[in-house]
Amino acid sequence: MNRQIELDGIMKHAGNISVEDLFEPLTYSVEPFISPEYAQAERDLLWPKMWQMAGRVEEIPEVGNYFTYDICEDSIIVVRNAPGSIKAFHNVCSHRGRRLIDTPAGCNNASGANGRFICGFHGWTYDLNGKNIYIHEELDWKGGLTAEHTCLSEVRVDTWGGWIYINMDPDCVSLREFLEPAASILDPFEFEKMRYKWRQWVIFDCNWKTALEAFMEPYHVAGTHTQMLNHGDYYAYSEAYGLHGVSGFDQRDPELQMKQSSTITRAGKGKDPRISTYELQNEIYTTVNNASTTETLVNAAKRLVDELPEGTPADQVIKHWLASARADDAARGVIWPTITPEQMAKAGLAWHIFPNMSVLQGISFALCYRTRPYGDNPNKCIFESYAMERFPQGEEPKTEWVYAEPTAEAWGLVLSQDFSNMAALQKGMHSRGFRGTLPNPHQEQKVTNFHRNLANIIGAGSLRLLNK
Ligand code: FES
Ligand SMILES: [Fe+2]
Repeated sequence: MNRQIELDGIMKHAGNISVEDLFEPLTYSVEPFISPEYAQAERDLLWPKMWQMAGRVEEIPEVGNYFTYDICEDSIIVVRNAPGSIKAFHNVCSHRGRRLIDTPAGCNNASGANGRFICGFHGWTYDLNGKNIYIHEELDWKGGLTAEHTCLSEVRVDTWGGWIYINMDPDCVSLREFLEPAASILDPFEFEKMRYKWRQWVIFDCNWKTALEAFMEPYHVAGTHTQMLNHGDYYAYSEAYGLHGVSGFDQRDPELQMKQSSTITRAGKGKDPRISTYELQNEIYTTVNNASTTETLVNAAKRLVDELPEGTPADQVIKHWLASARADDAARGVIWPTITPEQMAKAGLAWHIFPNMSVLQGISFALCYRTRPYGDNPNKCIFESYAMERFPQGEEPKTEWVYAEPTAEAWGLVLSQDFSNMAALQKGMHSRGFRGTLPNPHQEQKVTNFHRNLANIIGAGSLRLLNK
C-alpha cells in the first residue's frame, strides 16, 4: 500500500495508454530511468514475476553443469540435473541462508560442474535435484527436520530457442504464453540450433533500460552511426506485439516497400545491387564485431559481381545471394531452416523480448543483448551481448563470458558508437532542463510499448499523449 502511494507520487503522468495510442505523439517520463523508488518497485513487482532469459542450453551440456543468474538481490542456480532435464533453484542454503554459490569477483555469473552443492559455511550438501543429502550433526535437531525444511527452493524453468528462462513466481503463466506471439513468429529461425560465437559484458553508468533501448530502433543510425549511411538506408518501422516489440527496415515509398527487405539481409544502397549488397555485408561484418551476418554471407555477396549480369534487379540479387550462401553453408554441414518470405518479413529486423532481452536475427545468425540492474542503483547496469551462429557439428567455438572495456577494439566500431550514448543519455535525463521524451511514433514504438507494459506492471502509468 505504501509503495503504491510512493509510486503515485513519482508518476506525474498516470494514465491508460493503449497499443493504438502508440501511433500518436506521446511522452513518457524519466522516473523509470532515474528514480531509486522506481528501481525498488521493479525489484519487487517486475523481476520476481517475469520470465527472464538466464542462459543457453549449451552452457550446461553435461549432468552437473550449472550457472547462476543474478537479478537484484536474487540469485538463481540453473543446473542440468539429469540428461534432458534442467532444474533451477534459489541460490541460498536452507540452514542459515548463506548464498550457496559465490559469483567470483569480476564475473557476471558463476558456472561450473558439480555432482552436488556443498555450502561453504557449515557444509550442508544438496544433490542436483535440490534435495538435502548431508546435515552436519543432524542428531542435534532430534529428528525435527523434514525434507521440505532442508531442500533448496525450486524456481520455474523452461526453454525456448535454446535459451533457458527462469521465473521466480510459482503462479506465473507458461513460458510459451509469456513469449507469444514473438515465439511463434521467431520459431522458424531455429535459434536452438545456433551456438555462441562470442559473448562479452561490461558495466555502464546508465539504467538497464537506457542500455537496452539503445538497440531497439534504427532511428539512431543517422545520428550515431553516420558512416553506415554510405551503404544503407535505415528508415524503420516499429511495432508492438503484446509485451514484446519488433522493428524492421521500412520505405516511405510503397513501391520500394515491396522490393526492399525489412530484414538485415538486404541489397543496401547504390546503383548496382550486386556491389551494394557486398559492401553492406562487408561493412556490417567488419564494424559489428563479426556479427549481424556471417563469413559465408559476406563471401557469397563478394561473388555476386562475377555470378550475375549487370542490371540484375535487387530482389533477384538477394535471391541468388541467399541461395548460394545456403549452398555454401550446406556444403560444410550447416543446414539453414526453410523460412518463407512472409515469415521473414513478419519477423523483421530485431525484437525486444520483455523485459530485458533483445535479438537481431538472421537465418544463420543472431546478435543478442541482455541488460540487468546493477544493485539498487538506477544509474548503473550490467550489459551483456553475444553473437550466435550455426556451426558445423563439432566445430562450435568454445566461449565464455569475457569482460570487455567498451572500446571499438573490443566490440567493433558500431557497438562502441552505441556505447558512447549510454552515460550521456542517463545524465541528460537528470537535467532539470529536460522537458520530457519525444519518441518517434513510427520508429520508436518498441520503446514506448516497453514503457506502456512497464507502467501496467509497476501499477502506475508513465506515458501521456502529447496533444491531449
Ligand atoms: S548456512 Fe549453509 S550450511 Fe550453514
Ligand atoms: Fe546502434
